Amino acid sequence: MNEIRLPRPNDLDAFWMPFTDNRGFKSAPRMLAKAEGMLYWTPDGKEILDGTSGLWCVNAGHGRREITEAIRAQAGVMDFAPTFQLSHPVAFEAAAKIAALTPAGLDRVFFTNSGSESADTALKIALAYHKARGDSARVRLIGRERGYHGVGFGGMSVGGIGGNRKQFGALLPYVDHLPHTHLPAKNAFTRGQPEQGADLADVLENLVALHGAETIAAVMVEPVAGSTGVLVPPKGYLERLRALCTKHGILLIFDEVITGFGRIGTPFGSERLGVTPDIITMAKGLTNAAVPMGAVAVKRDIYDTVVEGAPAGIELFHGYTYSGHPLAAAAAVATIDLHVQEDLPGRVTAIEPAWENAAHALRDAPNVTDIRNFGLIAAVELAPRPGKPGARGMEVFHRCFDDGLLVRVTADTIALSPPLIIENQHLDRIFGTLDKAIRAEAA
Ligand SMILES: Cc1ncc(COP(=O)(O)O)c(C=O)c1O
Repeated sequence: MNEIRLPRPNDLDAFWMPFTDNRGFKSAPRMLAKAEGMLYWTPDGKEILDGTSGLWCVNAGHGRREITEAIRAQAGVMDFAPTFQLSHPVAFEAAAKIAALTPAGLDRVFFTNSGSESADTALKIALAYHKARGDSARVRLIGRERGYHGVGFGGMSVGGIGGNRKQFGALLPYVDHLPHTHLPAKNAFTRGQPEQGADLADVLENLVALHGAETIAAVMVEPVAGSTGVLVPPKGYLERLRALCTKHGILLIFDEVITGFGRIGTPFGSERLGVTPDIITMAKGLTNAAVPMGAVAVKRDIYDTVVEGAPAGIELFHGYTYSGHPLAAAAAVATIDLHVQEDLPGRVTAIEPAWENAAHALRDAPNVTDIRNFGLIAAVELAPRPGKPGARGMEVFHRCFDDGLLVRVTADTIALSPPLIIENQHLDRIFGTLDKAIRAEAA
C-alpha cells in the first residue's frame, strides 16, 4: 500500500470517547484511518493486522464490496422509512435471511441497533411473554457474574461486570446472578471446552429455591463469554442450564452478539454447542459492522403468545426509530449472502486446529497463566503486575499496536478474534507479534 494521506483531526477535545481512558488516549492518540480485508492502516500509512475484527464484529473482513455496494444502492433508492405501522421490503428480507440462519424454531426477528438494545429487548420480550401467559409474577431476571450484555439498564443489571455497574447506583431490581465459570485452578490451558464446571449451572436450583421459579422470567448468558476475557463453557454446562430452565418454565436467552455469524464455526454458537435457547440476541457480525444493527430472534411460540394472544392493536410496546433501518437491512442481507456463499463458519472449522496450536504455543512465554480458545477466539491471560492490575495487559496491547497488530485487552487478558477470512499465513504474524510483545514487556 502506497503512502496514505488521510485527514487527521487537530482537535481531540470534543469527542468524549466510550470505554476509554480519554486523558491517556488524547495525550498519545492511536488512530485507524483505512481498512481492507484483514488490515487497518493508520493515518501515516502504517499497516495494522486486525486481530480482533474491529470489536468482534467485522467477521467477513473489512471493506467488502458486496456490502458497501448494497448500502450505496439502498441509500440511492430510499434513505429511511419508518417501521412503526409502515415498513419497507428490505427489512422483511433481512428478517427472513436471519430466520434461515438461526436454529430451527427461532424464526421471528425483532430489529434493534446494537447489542445493548438487543439485550434489553430480549429481556422485555421475556417479561411480555410471561405476562401474556398470565404468569405476571415472573419478573426476575438471572444473569451471570462476568457476563456482558451491553450498557442499557437491563443488560448492565443482568450483566456481571462490577466495573460497569458500580459507577451507576440505579440498577434494575429483581435481578440475581449465577457464578461465572472461570476455574483456572482446574481448567488452565484447556483446548476448547473445559472438563470442569458443569455443576455451576446447578446454582440455578439454589436461585429457584431462594426466589421461587414462579418469579423468574429468564436466564441470560453468553454461550462463550467474550468481553470479560473469553470464558468457554465447561462441557455439559449449557445443557444443564437448558434442562433446568425447561424444568422451571424459565426462558433461556443466549446473547450471541459475539458468537453469532460464524465466530465459533456454525452460523450461531448454539448450533455448535448443541443447546437451543428460547431467544437469541445478535448484533456486530449481522451487518459486518458496516452499519449499526442488532436483532433478537425468538421461538415462534413466544411471538405467537405475545402477538396472536393480544387484543387488536399494538401487541408489543417497544421499538426503535431505526428498527430495520433500510441501510442496515440492506447491509444485513448482503452480509448474510456473503456468509453463506463463502461458508464463513466452515472457514473457522478448517483453520481452528492450526489456530489452537498457534495460540497454545505461547504457553511458555513469561507471565502466561492461562490460554483459552474456541472457534476463532483465543485468550492469553497474563499474571497481573503486583498492585497494578491491567498494567501488563495494556502495555502488551500498546506494544502489539506499535508492532502492527490489533489485539483486545481486558485487564491482563489479551483476546484475539480476527476476521473469519483469516489464512494460515496470518497466524505466525498474529502469535509471533503477541509473543514478542509479551517477552518485551517482561524484559
Ligand atoms: C455479548 C455481548 N452483548 C452485548 C454487547 C453490546 O453490544 P453493543 O456494544 O453493540 O451495544 C456486546 C458488545 O461487545 C457483547 O459482546
